[in-house]
Amino acid sequence: MRIQGLRSSDAAELDARIRRAKAALGKRAVILGHHYQREEVYRHADFHGDSLQLSRAAAEQEAEFIVFCGVHFMAEVADILSRPEQASILPDLNAGCSMADMADMPQVQRAWEELATVIDVEQEVTPVTYVNSSAALKAFCGVHGGTVCTSSNARKVLDWAFGQRPKALFFPDQHLGRWTGYQLGIPLRDMPVWDPSLPLGGLTPEEIRRARILLWKGHCSVHQMFQPAHIERWRREHPQGQVIAHPEASFEVCQMSDAVGSTDFILRTVKASPPGSAWLVGTEINLVTRLASEVRAEDKTVEFMSPMVCMCSTMFRIDPEQLACSLESLLAGQVVNRIQVDPETAAQARLALERMLAVS
Ligand code: 13P
Ligand code: SF4
Repeated sequence: MRIQGLRSSDAAELDARIRRAKAALGKRAVILGHHYQREEVYRHADFHGDSLQLSRAAAEQEAEFIVFCGVHFMAEVADILSRPEQASILPDLNAGCSMADMADMPQVQRAWEELATVIDVEQEVTPVTYVNSSAALKAFCGVHGGTVCTSSNARKVLDWAFGQRPKALFFPDQHLGRWTGYQLGIPLRDMPVWDPSLPLGGLTPEEIRRARILLWKGHCSVHQMFQPAHIERWRREHPQGQVIAHPEASFEVCQMSDAVGSTDFILRTVKASPPGSAWLVGTEINLVTRLASEVRAEDKTVEFMSPMVCMCSTMFRIDPEQLACSLESLLAGQVVNRIQVDPETAAQARLALERMLAVS
């Protein structure tokens, strides 16, 4: 397979450069790869996983360098959970997450203060941030008795949150929050959306008093590409087929799916299905394409949910050339693209992450 913009000989050369640098670094470096990474990068990772698995892996590493093939918030988590003498490296500093950018510290601080004009926030609200968020927001949750969740532990985490206080402020992904709250039996009307651009989030004091979960108005644009009509059309053609989606997809798509879960859950579920199964998958295209080729030999078919080719463009920013350059720089004694969270923020964020790891 050719790498975009490169001749295949260049692709082979890059692959060889990565292997050489990795071998020369030996145990000094470990590569973590999220399931959305392109194949040319993914194949070099020592550990693959969803966000929760990679957070755990980052916390357990002994290596001097943790090279994170994923996005910025993941490399931040690796820095927070690793020891100070370890360095977390993001091969492309522009690999962010557009959803994570939908909630920032001033907005969340303002929301907290505005909520305090209606209810006793410290007594009544547990702040819960999706791991797709900045270290500063994790620190906010750490300080205010809150926690972090990922797509694979959101239910357990929200359960824990309700054990602390009767309400949760959930940011930045409204869809994961809504789907998880619904799984816990919370009616949709008790999960209003908090719009940070409007005074009091666009809600009335009565709506705030009644709410169980205040859902931040944020979303993942990749997962909003999946529509109920795509599922209806596919089901007509594949009446025996099954549909599986990531919980960042809309409530309607999740409701129409046979199974909903994290990237790792999706991979495990499809791989464990009997030969001959047909699947429609609603998550990022690099994962879906790789999965389709891995299960083809068992006569399973895996199709991407949207007719549009939607990929996570920020995950895609990590390319083999950057991975090769990052590893070669480390070998030459230069630590490039290090992600470092300031010690105070890191300590507060660690509190929230440790609460999450304890309940997961
Ligand atoms: P997972 O934790 O399920 O891997 O999800 C991460 C993510 O960013 C999905 O868009
Ligand atoms: Fe962020 Fe969406 Fe990309 Fe996941 S798929 S990293 S939520 S932009």
